[in-house]
Amino acid sequence: MNNLTEEMTGRTGGPFRKIEHIGIAVRDLDEAVARYEQTMGTACYKRETVESEGVETAFFRTGEGKIELVAATRGDSPVARFLEKRGEGMHHVAFEVADIRAEMERCRKLGCTLLSESPKPGADNKLVAFLHPKEHHGVLIELCQPIE
Ligand code: CO
Repeated sequence: MNNLTEEMTGRTGGPFRKIEHIGIAVRDLDEAVARYEQTMGTACYKRETVESEGVETAFFRTGEGKIELVAATRGDSPVARFLEKRGEGMHHVAFEVADIRAEMERCRKLGCTLLSESPKPGADNKLVAFLHPKEHHGVLIELCQPIE
């Protein structure tokens, strides 16, 4: 890979500071929450609807990371289309970044397809943006920056 500064290759692993959460697309959020609560041995700590994205989400803590269950609230939401095409399962990997606008610009210059022009308010008190799966071997990538 070109253009990697020493800072980017250091122990912290660059501007994607950590895997903030893994998103899992589900059809029935209540049923999925009950199942994941049992299996993970912990209660869902937050449920939140993001109407602009047509999703209802449920979050679980696991150490420093989280699991986000995502269900569609309407038939034309991107998650509904995902479920139709691919069924339930892994939907996205979310990386925490310190400066989401700078990261969007950096990724844009690298040729990544961004799914929005600017960051949007997402679930769990974050600004979020998505990178298209076609340039990332089939994985939808979420960038998220905590809103202070
Ligand atoms: Co997410």
